[in-house]
Amino acid sequence: MSGARILHVGVGNSLLARRFCARGAEVVGTTIAPEEVAHGRAMGITRYDLRLHNKYRGHDGQAWGHFDFIVDNNPSSFACCLDHYMTMLKFYSDVLKPDGQFLVDRVGLGWALSADGALARWGFSSEDLASTAALVDLRVEPVTADILAVSRGEPVRPSAIRRTAWRIIERLK
Ligand SMILES: C[S@@+](CC[C@H](N)C(=O)[O-])C[C@H]1O[C@@H](n2cnc3c(N)ncnc32)[C@H](O)[C@@H]1O
Repeated sequence: MSGARILHVGVGNSLLARRFCARGAEVVGTTIAPEEVAHGRAMGITRYDLRLHNKYRGHDGQAWGHFDFIVDNNPSSFACCLDHYMTMLKFYSDVLKPDGQFLVDRVGLGWALSADGALARWGFSSEDLASTAALVDLRVEPVTADILAVSRGEPVRPSAIRRTAWRIIERLK
């Protein structure tokens, strides 16, 4: 993870940055909530650049560089229309390194359908993600049962032994 550049969209409590910056990654984190920016900055995390940014505005005149990973666990939620959703997807495609991966969580993708009384047309499936990603030359592959990788080529899948070793390391901390 050391040296990797990560764009985390929707930083929440900034725990992703705390975890990965400690392992040597550089994280650019975005949110539309000023309180989350203030909270994240107060954590004093090194190599963490927090920005107030609405992903549906695309580049928005800011310099971003290129990323090894983009993490957006609910990419379609709060999109008012397909026009703004595609602006976001084109932005992700532009700032992704050629061998980079945009990582999506299935739970986040289906989040809009989890409410009581949700209508099916509010949902956004992995097939919807795949067909829209193809328009910006990206393809979707499952990496684990929960995680989808959106990338230009074959995503790097963690092997079973690596996943198990990772869980053991986490337990030993
Ligand atoms: C439910 S929280 C998820 C937080 C974080 N991704 C996590 O897993 O802990 C929603 C986050 O998405 C951000 N968000 C919502 N709409 C956004 C948008 N249009 N552009 C960027 N961030 C947005 C919110 O500011 C908040 O940080």
